[in-house]
Amino acid sequence: MRNMLVTGGAGFIGSNFILEALKDQGKYNIINLDILSYAGNLENLTSVEEHPDYHFEKGDVCDKETITALLQKYNIEKVVHFAAESHVDRSIETPEIFLKTNVLGTFTLLECARQYWSQLPEGYQNKTFLHVSTDEVYGSLGEIGLFTEETSYKPNSPYSASKAASDHLARSYVHTYGFPVLVTNCSNNYGPFQFPEKLIPLLINNILNNKPLPVYGEGKNIRDWLYVRDHCRAILCVLENGNIGEQYNIGGHNEWTNIDIVRLICKYMDEQLKLPESKSSSNLITYVKDRPGHDLRYAIDATKIKRELGWVPSETFETGIQKTINWYLENKEWLSHTTNGSYQNYYKEMYGNR
Ligand code: NAD
Ligand code: DAU
Repeated sequence: MRNMLVTGGAGFIGSNFILEALKDQGKYNIINLDILSYAGNLENLTSVEEHPDYHFEKGDVCDKETITALLQKYNIEKVVHFAAESHVDRSIETPEIFLKTNVLGTFTLLECARQYWSQLPEGYQNKTFLHVSTDEVYGSLGEIGLFTEETSYKPNSPYSASKAASDHLARSYVHTYGFPVLVTNCSNNYGPFQFPEKLIPLLINNILNNKPLPVYGEGKNIRDWLYVRDHCRAILCVLENGNIGEQYNIGGHNEWTNIDIVRLICKYMDEQLKLPESKSSSNLITYVKDRPGHDLRYAIDATKIKRELGWVPSETFETGIQKTINWYLENKEWLSHTTNGSYQNYYKEMYGNR
């Protein structure tokens, strides 16, 4: 059994990843390190909190002592690094925390793992550090073309610039120290447990609360959407079979303009909530001021991961979005805890003040 440190495992993708990885009975012993920021919610993991192969540790990826102690305590062989500040709009308002968590946090984790692994008798053998990143590092596409692993980096927001910096650090550790890094760059995820500041859960939550559905600018920006569990399976696939030192793009070849996504969610929500046409949720659509520096289009070329590792998504957009809407409708309590912050008390009830 491999001891795996997952950072940011109480967040959206990290918690889905832990649930997915634990399906492989006896393969991974998972240690989830999370600071429990506004985006970290242990309720996402209630179904596994008693699982013998799952352990939670509250802590900061920027804290060298904590990380070194965890690497030693659990004899960590695999690191999967999700922890980050992840929301572009917040990075425009408050960039500093993005630099700290995403750049300094990644550096601290890389450096602690390098120091710990390199002094072991077997060195880097069987060790892997998978850094989870985003397609936003490549900047914005025009109307045609796709991001490949060879596309040059042109990040446009403080968020994407901080992720680009962390990718470069990861790359530098391979070239300088021969450190065993893999980097994945994925497109927009959607699915259960996503904090309702991101477009799709925000729309669902606002429809449920009869609030306006804000569409930035003209709604013509394009994103390439992938169901979160498909992303998680891709990460496991890269972790287990990827070539050390390489980068893998992950995406679902599923491009949508924002306004088309908004209309689609309204249609499905109207069906689920049995709203008559006169009360359609599409009446809530409201065009608002555009996001500063708003990237026009993202689209991933996922040929490499398909060709070399055989990964393809399992969900179509139709099945993924229906599952997602049903999940939020069945978990309104999760939505209300998340939006009113009361899930923060969950940690205190479970773990006290440690
Ligand atoms: P999220 O915001 O939902 O979760 C981030 C998690 O990291 C939270 O649990 C938070 O508490 C934790 N965290 C924040 N600062 C920390 C710190 N200093 N120490 C320890 N834990 C800390 O984010 P997400 O959407 O799940 O994204 C996870 C990763 O995947 C990020 O690195 C992001 O850049 C990347 N990514 C996200 C998407 C997407 O569409 N959401 C797409 C591609 C890549
Ligand atoms: O591409 C991967 C990235 O996808 C990840 O790296 C980020 O962590 C993740 O947050 C996401 O970034 P985006 O900025 O693309 O996602 P967001 O859900 O914030 O916005 C999706 C699109 O919808 C974007 O073009 C902005 C627009 N939008 C967003 C919100 C929140 C709106 O029109 N209205 C809104 O209220």
